[in-house]
Parts: sequence; structure tokens; C-alpha cells
Amino acid sequence: MSSAHDKIEKNVGLLIVLTLLVAAVGGLVQIVPLAFQDSLTEPVEGLEPYDALELSGRDIYIREGCYLCHSQMIRPFRWETERYGHYSVAGEFVYDRPFQWGSKRTGPDLHRVGGRYSDDWHRAHLINPRDVVPESNMPGFPWLEETEVNKSDIIPKMSALQFLGHPYSDDDIQNAPTKLEGKTEMDAVIAYLQDLGTSVKTRR
Ligand code: HEC
Repeated sequence: MSSAHDKIEKNVGLLIVLTLLVAAVGGLVQIVPLAFQDSLTEPVEGLEPYDALELSGRDIYIREGCYLCHSQMIRPFRWETERYGHYSVAGEFVYDRPFQWGSKRTGPDLHRVGGRYSDDWHRAHLINPRDVVPESNMPGFPWLEETEVNKSDIIPKMSALQFLGHPYSDDDIQNAPTKLEGKTEMDAVIAYLQDLGTSVKTRR
């Protein structure tokens, strides 16, 4: 007497194929609907794509490895929202390619840092964190103040994002190098930080 089940259990090849099939179908059932769920793919109200300066600052943030110590993802738990503000929602990240959620918090989460400090505070902090937070163990990034923002790749960068659906106008793109005129990498990083998380305004 041998049921179908016995046959499968005694045939390793068949068992592997069927297991993979079940996992694949299970995976698709979970993943595919997410691509069609508006709350996960549509920008939240008021969300703007990064302007030329913020976008350059974002690239510097990535280059300098800020994400290795800072997350940008506030989880929906009381102890997170009390400290950082409204939890992060998917629609806030549609113009982040790639998103900077991070997985390590040596320093605090930065998703709602926009508007929390003045530009001057950020400048002092990024040059030497201990000047404003004596107990800080964040490294200083003084060279950002001395380096001009790279203007040469902003047009192709913004064009690529426009192609992917970021709502830049052709004027935004053509005027981008002028917007970066005379700006330092420090200005760019600060502009980026000040924009973070500001489309959801419910901080405390
Ligand atoms: C080695 C880990 C480390 C790296 C790399 C790092 N930070 Fe920090 N950061 C910290 C720590 C720790 C703190 C908390 C102490 C302080 O405020 O200086 C902090 C604090 C901050 C704050 C203040 C946040 C708040 O809510 O008070 C900002 C803004 C910040 N970092 C931005 C940056 C940026 C931008 C970069 C990259 C240029 C960066 N950090 C790189 C560790 C790091």
C-alpha cells in the first residue's frame, strides 16, 4: 500500500522539486501583492524628490559611510516614536534609490532629523562632533567644508532618476549645475539632512 505521500517521501529528487515549488508559490503570494499596494508604492502627500543640492548631499552621505552608524527607519514602537517622531512609512522612500534604512545604530536614527537643528549646529557638529556634543564618539568630517560639490555628474544622475519616474522637470535638470555653483560638500550634506523626514510633520 503506497500513498502519494509515501512516494514523495521516498524520492529525494521529487521531494526537492515539490518543496521548491511550494516555497516559490508561497513567496510569490506574499511578494507580488506588495507591488500593487498603493500605500507601499505611492509617495506620501507632500513628498518632493531631492533637489540638486540635497541629491548631491545624499551621495556624499553614502560615500562617507554615514549609513554604517545611522539608520533612517523609525519603527512603530512607542520607545522609538517618543524619541524620534512619527514612525517611517513606505511612501516616504519612493524617491530614495537605494533607501538608506540601514541596519546599525551606533548613532541615533536620522529619519526625522530634518529641521531639528540649525544649519550652523550641523556644520559645527560635522566638523568636530565634540564641539557640540562633548561625549560624542562620532568621527569628524572636516574635509566636507573644503571640497566643492561635484557638478559634472548631476545632469546624468537626475536624468536617470527622471527616467525612473522621479518628477523632475527638464528645467530642474538643466539648471542643476547652476544650483550647485559655489556650494561645498558640507552645504550639500546639511541640505540633505534638513530635508530628511520632513514630509510627515508630526514630530512630538
Ligand atoms: C562611527 C559612527 C558614526 C559615523 C560614521 C557617523 N556618525 Fe553621526 N553620530 C554618531 C553618534 C555616536 C552620534 C551621537 C552623538 C552626537 O550627536 O555626536 C551621532 C550623531 C549624529 C547626528 C545628530 C543626531 C541627533 O538626532 O542628535 C547627526 C545629524 C549625524 N550624526 C550625522 C552624521 C552624518 C551626516 C554622517 C556622515 C557624514 C555621520 N553622522 C557619520 C556616530 C556616527
